[in-house]
Amino acid sequence: MQVKHLKPILMASALIGLSQWSGLGFAQTAEQLYKRGLAATCANCHGTDGKGVVDAGIPIINTLTSEQMLEKLKAYKSGALEGTIMPQLAKGYSDEQLTTIANQLGKKQ
Ligand code: HEC
Repeated sequence: MQVKHLKPILMASALIGLSQWSGLGFAQTAEQLYKRGLAATCANCHGTDGKGVVDAGIPIINTLTSEQMLEKLKAYKSGALEGTIMPQLAKGYSDEQLTTIANQLGKKQ
């Protein structure tokens, strides 16, 4: 009798366990998509992954480390660094988003 009652409980906990698993998997994927999505907004001008676009006249940014990139982005945001486009763009992101972008696009050592 006790074993009979145990079975549904075991199954239920297994299901809950499963849904937690897939929930976690989804959260990670969504986070990665969000990070990539943020960085992808830079690709129009700087090329995919900051590799640059030939003859576009826009600086190639995949030479910068994440730290260097973040420094520049924050300087554009604060107005310490002048530019035509980047100051306006950088102001549109929170510091946290800029950090995410710099981590995503910066040169990996
Ligand atoms: C509409 C085109 C455009 C987009 C989109 C764009 N940039 Fe830029 N970026 C420029 C231009 C042009 C410059 C040169 C400075 C200026 O005139 O603003 C520049 C300069 C930079 C620099 C400085 C490079 C150096 O070596 O000094 C960094 C870093 C940078 N961009 C990062 C980014 C990141 C990160 C994004 C995405 C959030 C982004 N840019 C999106 C056009 C763009």
